[in-house]
Amino acid sequence: MVARTPQGETEGGEPSSGRDADQDPSIVDGPSSREHRVALGAAVFVENCASCHQGEGQGIEGEVPPLASSDFLNADKTRAIEIVANGLDGVVVVNGHEFASRMPALGLSDDEVANVLTYVFQQWGNSAQVVTATEVRAVRR
Ligand code: HEC
Repeated sequence: MVARTPQGETEGGEPSSGRDADQDPSIVDGPSSREHRVALGAAVFVENCASCHQGEGQGIEGEVPPLASSDFLNADKTRAIEIVANGLDGVVVVNGHEFASRMPALGLSDDEVANVLTYVFQQWGNSAQVVTATEVRAVRR
């Protein structure tokens, strides 16, 4: 049972280029296929995320929120990119559980952020979105 909320996608009139790699196969920056991106992202995940979020994305109760079937993650792709690119220090509610913890900025390249998020989105009941390096560049601060 995965709660998939559509908010944060393209509704709400957020100014964007309107180009999305999910819809527009002509967008090729970095790995040209989803499979290749996922394979590269899996390695980034093992090295940079699994120590906290755990190998199956299940998180650590009370300390690290899950990425597996995360309603928070799947609700807003741009927000997910921001978190992986910049870190997160605040209060989040993931699948009904509150986390008031801190994720450091990890210093990943645009491609690494794109690949690892594409990997995470294809795993564990998540929403199967693709993230490109162009999308990461757009939200970096
Ligand atoms: C040092 C531990 C640590 C590492 C490493 C880490 N995270 Fe996190 N992550 C956290 C914590 C803690 C939070 C919640 C922060 C808060 O409460 O403000 C979080 C939150 C998140 C969230 C939003 C909440 C959710 O579960 O949907 C996403 C998405 C996320 N991390 C993805 C990643 C990815 C992808 C990586 C690897 C590239 C990564 N994190 C590496 C600790 C970590």
